[in-house]
Amino acid sequence: MTEQNEIILAIETSCDETAAAVVKGGTELLSNVVATQMDIHQKFGGVVPEVASRHHIEQMTAVLEQAMDEADVTFDDVDAVAVTQGPGLVGALLVGVNAAKAIAYAHDLPLIGVHHIAGHIYANRLEQPFEFPLLSLVVSGGHTELIYMNDHGDYQLIGETRDDAAGEAYDKVAKALELPYPGGPQIDQLAQSGEDTYQFPRSYLEEGSYDFSFSGLKTAVINKLHQKRQKNETIDSENVAASFQASVIDVLVNKTYQAALEHNVKQLIVAGGVSANQSLRARLQEKFEGSGIELCIPPLYLCTDNAAMIGAAASIQYHRGDFAGLDLNANPGLMMD
Ligand code: KG4
Ligand code: ZN
Repeated sequence: MTEQNEIILAIETSCDETAAAVVKGGTELLSNVVATQMDIHQKFGGVVPEVASRHHIEQMTAVLEQAMDEADVTFDDVDAVAVTQGPGLVGALLVGVNAAKAIAYAHDLPLIGVHHIAGHIYANRLEQPFEFPLLSLVVSGGHTELIYMNDHGDYQLIGETRDDAAGEAYDKVAKALELPYPGGPQIDQLAQSGEDTYQFPRSYLEEGSYDFSFSGLKTAVINKLHQKRQKNETIDSENVAASFQASVIDVLVNKTYQAALEHNVKQLIVAGGVSANQSLRARLQEKFEGSGIELCIPPLYLCTDNAAMIGAAASIQYHRGDFAGLDLNANPGLMMD
């Protein structure tokens, strides 16, 4: 095995997907298995942490076996085991961390603890090489961040949400519209047949700030729905969804574009579950067209949680010798640096 062709077995269990993947050289996907628990959590209208942990335990072994089989590798071929260390639900993370530690110990393999958001960013490297400096827009259920990178593994936070994450706002507005969990894809779909008739507020915060805030928008939508219900008016869900989405996307796209220009980046890398959103993808494409900045958005199966992205991020750590001990612990509030 040459140094750039290392084979990493990666595990991700930070929320409600039990995932394992085998990645070669940080860029080549040999297998990518995701067992989703979405239908289980749908009954509760959101992820129930204890239920998630229990299902991870039930699924973990089968998912690992399938990832190894599909990649057609044995543990003798594997050079390291990587796992999401945080952030996420602690009980859920612990299942993956313990599985990774057991494999590392049993097969005498180095262990790599990966930050979940670094994973989302590196999902893009399975599709194309990175060119620095780059800007990453991370939009997921727990994060909304603009991260500047001058080199591999170098993450500088230049903006973040001050309250709700973009995906969280999608999920809460969807709940208010009585749509099933997870709300993001539901609103995305509904919005396609609606119009921005409500013109909800766009929160740009202070001049020059790259921070975000979505809780005011969420409250405006919920208040509008309350008023309509009190007056017994029919709720035009398509227009509410389209109006909410237009506000989120205007702010995300405009701030990201400003930050990308100001920081003179070569690429914009989009990451996280909300990057699956059809309108966000289309608007970013329009905005960056002709800007000289290359827009990279992962294919849908790499946008939401998966282990391939963890293997891709772990490759950078592997080549730096950034290994964890067998005392690696899940860290629900793990920071990026
Ligand atoms: O990255 P991810 O799979 O998990 C976290 O790390 O949080 O992101 C999940 C989030 C959820 O809030 C979900 O509603 C949102 O991504 N999401 C979407 C879409 N698909 C998933 N939001 C808007 N439009 C979508 N198509
Ligand atoms: Zn995620």
